[in-house]
Amino acid sequence: MKEQILSQLAPDYPWGELLHSYSKVDSTNTLAKSLAAEGAPHGTAVIASRQTGGRGRMGRQFYSPEDVGVYLSLLLRPQCAPTQLMHLTCAVAVAACQAIEDCTGVELGIKWINDLIWNGRKIAGILTELSLEPGTGKVAYAVVGIGVNCRQQETDFPPELQTVAGSLAMAAGKDVPPSAVAAAVLNRLWQMDGLLLREKPLLMDRYRSRCITVGQPVSIHRGDDIAFGDALGVDDDGALLVRAAEGSIVSVNSGEASIRGKDGYV
Ligand code: BTN
Repeated sequence: MKEQILSQLAPDYPWGELLHSYSKVDSTNTLAKSLAAEGAPHGTAVIASRQTGGRGRMGRQFYSPEDVGVYLSLLLRPQCAPTQLMHLTCAVAVAACQAIEDCTGVELGIKWINDLIWNGRKIAGILTELSLEPGTGKVAYAVVGIGVNCRQQETDFPPELQTVAGSLAMAAGKDVPPSAVAAAVLNRLWQMDGLLLREKPLLMDRYRSRCITVGQPVSIHRGDDIAFGDALGVDDDGALLVRAAEGSIVSVNSGEASIRGKDGYV
């Protein structure tokens, strides 16, 4: 897989030598964090053919069977305070959408904050994790993890996912090799990295134009607590602005809540 990805990277992609490829890992995010703790540089990437413990937001699992998806994590070391990276997940979601458009022509919507959606089905998810320097409180590193379902048909998913999960093959109507998607994602993440701290409003405008949650009735899940409202917008820090049932406008932070459609997943 590594050679196939390397051959599809942009000629000036700067981090080709920092790509680590494995046939099986627990979680590429967990491995990238271990490499970061050992001093791995900015631009280090970990990709695996399968994950045995793929992780999603809010402690969820990410189903990661062999050779049918992209399971990829990139280590970044932005020199900034964590408050300057509130939009990181949104910027990665945009880069992933652009990458998928580049290599398949399929346009995905973003369900706030980190799910990429086609036809009401989740095709990809993003998990960003930050580590801070103990002394300064600045960002020591960020790991951005992306999982993309590429080759599955509906019946390939476990029964509980068959109505909510989808793949690029289902969306494009043809086979989509994970290596092509992985290379496109790395190319777009590299471009995103150059814009991340300087072009936040631009990245967030791109996010808002793809976000399918805005304008929808939503349910807000905080632990066992569920509230209802209407999604009005997304601010430049990636918070979802919701008009609550009693009329007040609340800002929902991705660290504390997840959102579903009022009657279903999207
Ligand atoms: C979500 O659905 O909440 C996010 C899913 C993120 C999955 C990717 S796959 C590569 C990386 N490694 C992980 O363990 N998770 C991310």
